[in-house]
Amino acid sequence: MSKVATESHAGSAFPGGTCYKVLLWEEGALSPGQLDAWQATRRELLARMRDAGIKGARGTLAKLGAELRELSTRAVITPLSTCAQASLSLTRVGALAAKLQREEQVLAYRLTPCTATVLVELTGEEGIDALVSRWSTSTPEVQWCTSPLVEAISPAEAAEWQEECRAADAESDADTEADEENAPAFHHVTVLREEAVAALQPAEGRVLVDATLGGGGHTELMLERGATVWGIDQDPAARRAARKRLAAHADRLHIVAGNFRNAVELLRAEGLETADGILADIGISSPQVDQAERGFSFLAEGPLDMRMNPAAPRSAADIVNTAAESELADILWQYGEERASRAIARRIVQERAKAPITTTTQLADIIASVLPRKGKQHPATRSFQALRIAVNDELGALDALLESGLSLLKSGGRFAIITFHSLEDRAVKRYFDRVTRPEIDRPEWPAPRPNPEYAARLVTRKPIVASEAELAANPRARSAKLRVIEKL
Ligand SMILES: C[S@@+](CC[C@H](N)C(=O)[O-])C[C@H]1O[C@@H](n2cnc3c(N)ncnc32)[C@H](O)[C@@H]1O
Repeated sequence: MSKVATESHAGSAFPGGTCYKVLLWEEGALSPGQLDAWQATRRELLARMRDAGIKGARGTLAKLGAELRELSTRAVITPLSTCAQASLSLTRVGALAAKLQREEQVLAYRLTPCTATVLVELTGEEGIDALVSRWSTSTPEVQWCTSPLVEAISPAEAAEWQEECRAADAESDADTEADEENAPAFHHVTVLREEAVAALQPAEGRVLVDATLGGGGHTELMLERGATVWGIDQDPAARRAARKRLAAHADRLHIVAGNFRNAVELLRAEGLETADGILADIGISSPQVDQAERGFSFLAEGPLDMRMNPAAPRSAADIVNTAAESELADILWQYGEERASRAIARRIVQERAKAPITTTTQLADIIASVLPRKGKQHPATRSFQALRIAVNDELGALDALLESGLSLLKSGGRFAIITFHSLEDRAVKRYFDRVTRPEIDRPEWPAPRPNPEYAARLVTRKPIVASEAELAANPRARSAKLRVIEKL
């Protein structure tokens, strides 16, 4: 499996001009003290460089330049690469950098889970500080540091860096191909396959978005019916499996890496402005649960991980070992409806004081020690669901997709969502209700008023659920609910 936790993107050919390398990171990842010390030393070095430049002291300039680079590495780059608080995920920063690359000035970028390094060429009136501050305001979803590391570089260095990015791109493609060959089998039984796909009316010339590509079960049927499909998934293992399974339709399939919370930005960055339908089959795939090393299952020993996107910053172990007791209890209660949330949180905090909780079975045993087994369900079921939802911010991502999805659809386009538990279904039902009511009424109003959010009609008054035949073949489909709306 690829362990690549970085991405890079080389843009168009290097044209020459005034170039800067800008290293961005998220606010709070470095302490104010560290930043102040770095900036003070940096200012002093820059002043000495300016004086040396005036005197034409080339040797001193070169020495000071090397010192400046060394300082940046020591004060910024190294601490960032090991910083636990740096929470810039590849998905979020990837969407941003792809957006930046559509601006002509961005020639290439490189991403890590903590940082984005962007190579820009100034072409107009705008100075580098103004340009960088415009990026921060145009991406309010990322809390950028206010003092990025900006380095002026020569055209030759810029061209070299761009070439390095291009080489890294090629290497990661090669990794992907090798991984596809060696990837473990991906068995996921698609739920409500016919019903969900039929709702989007796939046909030749229609453009559909599968926001949860997974193993490609829904996408495959859309492709077989002639549609062009853009499939998003945040899990590289799912993308690899889908790419392999759907190779015969590669000319009409575009696979996009990222979180569907950024679907609109991700797709626009790839050149897709509007679509005829969007499907989201929310939740996890069977391989995510079945492979012990992903850390989702309390039944098999594995690292306490639960990240659908392995490059995401916070694993279940991070939450379990660092969250305050009250935060842990809230997570278990809100996302797992676990009535013993407080007792479990208390026990977790007691146990982690003795030794960090690092494996799935360790956590399952701690929960079982508070909550003896009753009936068929394992006592850790609800807590594991809660942690998984928190680790992947599943409800936040769903809300963001709901709020932005309609803007991607053409008039008459369909938005279909399959959910697997009541928290998700409630969010979908509420949102669909909000945008499909022509009017709203309040007791204090004399008459109903037009709903400013009215933008769609309900296609399914009641959710579509799995047939008896599907349930017999796949009991996991029991809790699935499909709801569909159509943009006016
Ligand atoms: C239930 S599976 C989809 C299965 C797929 N419909 C099929 O039939 O093969 C859900 C998939 O969505 C992905 N996923 C879940 N939340 C996501 C998010 N916020 N952004 C991107 N992908 C997500 C998961 O990684 C998983 O592969």
